[in-house]
Amino acid sequence: MKSFKNIALIGFMGSGKSTVGEIISKKLNLLFIDIDNVIELIEEKSIDSIFKLHGEKYFRELESKIIDKIFLNKNCIFACGGGVVKNSRNADTIRKNSTVVYLHVSPEEACRRLENVSNRPLLKVKDKQKVIKSMINEREMLYRKNADIIVSNTDKNPEIIVYEIINKLGVSA
Ligand code: S3P
Repeated sequence: MKSFKNIALIGFMGSGKSTVGEIISKKLNLLFIDIDNVIELIEEKSIDSIFKLHGEKYFRELESKIIDKIFLNKNCIFACGGGVVKNSRNADTIRKNSTVVYLHVSPEEACRRLENVSNRPLLKVKDKQKVIKSMINEREMLYRKNADIIVSNTDKNPEIIVYEIINKLGVSA
């Protein structure tokens, strides 16, 4: 395998970052790190409880602190939380230390995948579909702006996506 920087997967909730990340980690022999899991381990609480007890601002500060430290590692593939690009400093750190892959998912597909999901605090709202669409609309430009590689994950299975990403990275699995 060529030596390259870390890989960071960005994209909206439900875009498949964790599933795709796990597969790539095995194929390219990289350590898979899910940033939300790290936050949960450090806080000894679920993301949901962190939001409930301390609010979004506290979560975002924690997310940034962890990104500052964890992106110093090498040979890792990171699944970043969907809101990571909202903070431009996070985005700069991630870009500096990794090849950034944006997993694009259409708003309709995101709504379908997240319909029965109850562990996303920002989606505990009356009109989930409306909120998902408006959040994607707000973030789409940021995801694109910060990506080195863009792959659509709307109607493909994870193995195909992984194949596309590895191809675009120009590495052999
Ligand atoms: C968030 C996405 C979640 C998690 C938190 C906030 C967001 O991660 O970080 O609930 O703002 O989009 P996933 O994208 O892994 O679901």
